Amino acid sequence: MSRALLSGARIVTLTGPGSQASVTEGAVLVEGGRILWVGPSGAAPEADTVRDLEGRLVTPGLIDCHTHLVHGGHRAGEFARRLAGASYADIARAGGGIAATVAATRAASLDDLVATALPRLDRLIGEGVTTVEIKSGYGLDIETELRMLQAARALGQARAVRVRTSFLGAHAVPPEFKADRAAYLHEVCLPALRRAAKAGLADAVDGFCEGIAFSPAEIATVFAEAKALGLPVKLHAEQLSHAGGAALAAREGALSADHLEYATPEDAAQMARAGTVAVLLPGAFYTLREATAPPVAAFRKAGVAMALATDCNPGSSPLTSPLLAMNMGCTLFGLTPGEALAGVTRHAARALGLDDVGQIAPGFRADLAIWDVEAPEELAYRIGFNPLWERFFGGIA
Ligand code: NIG
Ligand code: FE
Repeated sequence: MSRALLSGARIVTLTGPGSQASVTEGAVLVEGGRILWVGPSGAAPEADTVRDLEGRLVTPGLIDCHTHLVHGGHRAGEFARRLAGASYADIARAGGGIAATVAATRAASLDDLVATALPRLDRLIGEGVTTVEIKSGYGLDIETELRMLQAARALGQARAVRVRTSFLGAHAVPPEFKADRAAYLHEVCLPALRRAAKAGLADAVDGFCEGIAFSPAEIATVFAEAKALGLPVKLHAEQLSHAGGAALAAREGALSADHLEYATPEDAAQMARAGTVAVLLPGAFYTLREATAPPVAAFRKAGVAMALATDCNPGSSPLTSPLLAMNMGCTLFGLTPGEALAGVTRHAARALGLDDVGQIAPGFRADLAIWDVEAPEELAYRIGFNPLWERFFGGIA
């Protein structure tokens, strides 16, 4: 196997405790798609090829741990309606919102879903993303939920990127089941989940716990099925109100609770005990012009790991830039630039239950982003600027 050395680098390993983003001068040795060695350039072992990075910054490949990348259509019309004063919940209650995307997604073929998601995926990849999570949740019937997950898997074949899927059948109650929510859960959501699991299409199970979506008791039913199928869980929680999702996620040992604008310090304490990651989604906060920010200070104090993601979706967060998510995480939520970087690497890996990405250390996958910047803070500081110089996926540029 050939050994490739990247020398003369400034490396942010993200291996330190918490969210330290300290820089070390040095080299990374890659073999067989994995990192074999990290250390000072002068002490590097023999390699077949050596590349001098001339002081460029090397971070782990970015991980976008919460997206709805696969969907039909767009909702630019709702953007205009919201600007004119309608709220996200108003639009959802009037049959728009998620239901509008459900109609467009049901009408889309597998090929359509892949083709329309590819440009969005390419934007993420163009900013150094090497792992992306993609959810279902705009099908809300068995066939379309499965087709969304198939599209997500196909995207992972079409590009050099690792895709992790989450089954999100409990995203909204579709119009045809408005009068019988229990029937939706038992006749569509749970059977779709079982089929997705059997076909190996779901890596995790997600839900939307909210007044306009599902109650904690309804979500608990879905989580019980996930547990029976051996799948980890995560949850959209406390986004628009305090509905009890964060505490439920912690009780169920969820990988993550996501959004969390209305989470409380008590929720933070429970999440810390459970090791549940807080996934912050500033793109949705910004787009919906929310006024209540997630309790970052409480998460910090309790020792909850904070991840950051784009939440790329056609309604609440039409964002395809993890770098802008980092900037917004700092400016809108008060994260430090170091926390923002840990949020799209080390902590994002944890939110997906992955232990071989998100850090630069021997044994980890050689998923790397090389940036034409001097300091890690620059990644979060600039707005609309992409300094990616090179990206390695499994050691391959
Ligand atoms: O993560 N919160 C619920 N789900 C998505 C929004 C979906 C949509 O509006 O289409 C989110 O923000
Ligand atoms: Fe989401």
